[in-house]
Amino acid sequence: MKPAWAGGLPVLDRLPQVARQPLQTFARAAQRGALVNLGTTWDPVVGTSRVHLLSDPERIERLLLDTERFDKDYRVLSPLMGDGLFTAAGPTWRGQRRQLQPAFLRSAHGGFVQAMRTTTDQRLGSWSRPGSLDLAAALSSLTLDIVLRALFGSEATRFEVEVYEGLRASVRLIDERIWLPSLPESWPTPANRALRKAVGRLDAVVAAIVDQRRGQLDRPDLLGLLLAEHPDAADPVQARSVRDQVVTFLLAGHETTASALTWTLYLLDRNPACAARVQDELAGTAGDLPEDLPYLTACFKEATRLYPPVWAFARSARVTCALGPWSLRSGDVVFVSPWLLHRDPQHYPDPLAFRPERHLAPPTWHPFASLPFGGGPRTCIGARFALLEASVVLSRLLRSTRLRFLGEPVASPQLTLYPRGDTRVALS
Ligand code: HEM
Repeated sequence: MKPAWAGGLPVLDRLPQVARQPLQTFARAAQRGALVNLGTTWDPVVGTSRVHLLSDPERIERLLLDTERFDKDYRVLSPLMGDGLFTAAGPTWRGQRRQLQPAFLRSAHGGFVQAMRTTTDQRLGSWSRPGSLDLAAALSSLTLDIVLRALFGSEATRFEVEVYEGLRASVRLIDERIWLPSLPESWPTPANRALRKAVGRLDAVVAAIVDQRRGQLDRPDLLGLLLAEHPDAADPVQARSVRDQVVTFLLAGHETTASALTWTLYLLDRNPACAARVQDELAGTAGDLPEDLPYLTACFKEATRLYPPVWAFARSARVTCALGPWSLRSGDVVFVSPWLLHRDPQHYPDPLAFRPERHLAPPTWHPFASLPFGGGPRTCIGARFALLEASVVLSRLLRSTRLRFLGEPVASPQLTLYPRGDTRVALS
């Protein structure tokens, strides 16, 4: 069976429209069927590949569990993340996941929480009350500091601004090429030159973070683990592996969480009854962990349902094969959109309502209709880190500060679903 066609002429397919209005185009396309062909893309290495959107949870489960037939092909991110854990595929990815998993085991959580508490308290101490600030930017910089400290043991303030700017510039340039064909990276086009320059600046500060740690290999954090596995700074392959993972975790570990925290605070601001229940919960405990604060944690989960920071991700067919009733060709790309799934009334009654209570009872939805952290073997390695960070940051912020949004944030679907528009808040 062929996937449904999203409409338009075969040569003028839907991808330029996806690039302009991703959420709306995905929503319209999904009405045509559970697997919809959005068009054909071109890449200088792979050639042409068909791009589909899949919105049936049972088939999504098959897609995400069957890593032999469906794998990531995130070539578009490789100028920035190289062959790190987010972008690597096949046996390279499997080896990396085995190697890095120990840095996220339960035994590491105490260290994470300590770094989260210290960094959050310092940051909250620097906010003027009464006053106002751009919350999305403030939380983005806080979550970056937390990753620098918790995973890389770095004295955050030394590197934070340079890392932040380097990531921002690189991500903006990558965003521009996600949906539309671009010329090979080696060609000296203005876009390629700008990307190389931005990545070069980021690489310089990453090298400084790594060099600072080469002398002290005894710390058991992520960077300690990476340097123990790749100790030879003079070996370009080892140095490149460390660099790729550091950039991967800086990027994957901060903007996603910052986006989710901002949306949680926005939704609490717009739902005073929920905000009051959070305050009651905070008043009843001195704790700041998810186990101490089930309702606050449910608010965070409900925010990531309505505004999933990773609003879409994809797998590519490694071979010509069937996915349920459909035949896919080798190289076909299949998108899954948590944004669409999480707002589908088939899975969530009254889907646009902010109802944290949904997460306090056993789930009524298919497990693959809830994908804030992805699913299957490539599920987010930092999911627990993010939940810990949410309860530590939100509880400390809401205990010390009253916050009111001054305008309306807008969900901007780029690499992550970032809150843009007016994200200023009044603090008291
Ligand atoms: C609310 C916060 C977060 C959200 C919503 C989120 C979401 C996701 C999703 C959906 C994926 C799977 C993508 C795919 O299958 O293509 C993923 C993977 C990943 N995430 Fe997260 N993430 C968050 C926080 C974090 C944090 C804090 C870290 C690091 C400390 C992190 C590191 C990663 C990495 C390295 C991967 C790739 C894992 C692999 O392929 O083995 N994420 N994340």
